[in-house]
Amino acid sequence: MNGEIEGPASGYNRTMKVMVGVSGGIAAYKAAEVVRALQRHALEVRVTMTQAATRFVQPLTFAALSGHRVMTSLWEMPTDASPDAPIDHIAEAQWADLLVVAPATADILARFAHGLADDFLTTMYLATSAPVVVAPAMNSVMWEHAATQANVEMLRRRGVRIVEPDAGPLACGMVGPGRMAEPEQIANAVLNALGRSHDLAGEVVLITAGGTREALDPVRFLGNRSSGKMGYALAEAAQSRGARVILVTGPSALHPPIHCEVVRVTTAEEMRQAVLARQAEATLVIKSAAVADYRPVVVAEQKLRRQGPMTLELLPTEDILAEVVRRRRPGQLIVGFAAETEDTVEQGRAKLLRKGADAIVVNDVGREEIGFDSDHNAATFLTLSTAIDLPFMPKRKLADRVLDEVVALRRPQSLLVELSSTELELQREMPVREGSSVQQDETALRESAAPRRKALMIE
Ligand code: CTP
Repeated sequence: MNGEIEGPASGYNRTMKVMVGVSGGIAAYKAAEVVRALQRHALEVRVTMTQAATRFVQPLTFAALSGHRVMTSLWEMPTDASPDAPIDHIAEAQWADLLVVAPATADILARFAHGLADDFLTTMYLATSAPVVVAPAMNSVMWEHAATQANVEMLRRRGVRIVEPDAGPLACGMVGPGRMAEPEQIANAVLNALGRSHDLAGEVVLITAGGTREALDPVRFLGNRSSGKMGYALAEAAQSRGARVILVTGPSALHPPIHCEVVRVTTAEEMRQAVLARQAEATLVIKSAAVADYRPVVVAEQKLRRQGPMTLELLPTEDILAEVVRRRRPGQLIVGFAAETEDTVEQGRAKLLRKGADAIVVNDVGREEIGFDSDHNAATFLTLSTAIDLPFMPKRKLADRVLDEVVALRRPQSLLVELSSTELELQREMPVREGSSVQQDETALRESAAPRRKALMIE
């Protein structure tokens, strides 16, 4: 299996898919803005409308925005559909990572609550196991009616997330709660429900994990205690934040995340070949593998017999991280790991300088409760100018914290392409404070632009 690729073909990108359900209220026109907001967060969007919604907005509007046919009926089939084609609402239910209904009328809330399934949207609601978000919009008396509130409560108890309507002037002339929440607020609820901030969408992340093994003879090897847990956690976290992940892994008992591409290797040299072969595709390289530093000069063809004292002659392996840095393509971020047992931060910084990576995650592997084979870890994220303490926490959480810091490294470069025109205006208006560093100005600007931020890559 060494060097062989498993999993989806390259080009796969785990972009999250969202079905937007539009039901028939005056706020249906604002659903177009919801679609745009979701797309700005790099989510793939399709739309389904109830018959009533089509009286307010033409399906063509949503077809143009989503680039996809809009489902409006249980009974319409594409003309070329074969009789054994899957029934669409089931296929769409399986396609979606999340269903968001905006606007959700009192009627659609009641039908969801009571399990009615007499149109495409209500049938899809029953047929999906994905998270569901609803953004109610209606007249305030209807919203406050005991029947509506009971339905909302029932849905909430079932795990449906409710984006509460805002209070304000309503289309019917009344003033009160019932106005659909702002599109960006609905998009944020979607991102929260997906459990991720999709900030690595469009990135290709090459991650190395586990330890390598150097054979001594057909049954023995020189290895290390790395379990692969940290690297696999990083792969899962990067993928769930929208990246396409290539995981180059030494032997490990763990199951890799299902959607990432896995390249299995055994020796340091195989890992080197695999990493260099895929480096050009990557926008971000994270080297969490514990690579053997030495390999035996001679690998015995037959099992070595016990014959008194023995001396092993070893040769250093190639430093893959340093080689990756030498071959770095423009815009590629490179993050290493360092396993240290003493003076961790000083050693880590020396390693960062020596290897030329953008950052190094330093682990104190001498501590019993963390590091190899543990489900927990603590680390310091080191760059040339910063040392960020990542205290004791589960490795999966630490993986997200490491990625947060990596994304922060990316921002100053990608800032300009991240910004929409409004944000650019904001940038022009912003006074350059005397004595403040460029970094500080960018931080302030990024914070103000945060809700609409989309991580993009600059070549
Ligand atoms: N690394 C590598 N190739 C090697 C050895 C290490 O790419 N042959 C990478 C690791 O994946 C890690 C970083 O270098 O990202 C630091 O690894 P570590 O084992 O801590 O450091 P070494 O380079 O081996 O240095 P030392 O043995 O002096 O601690």
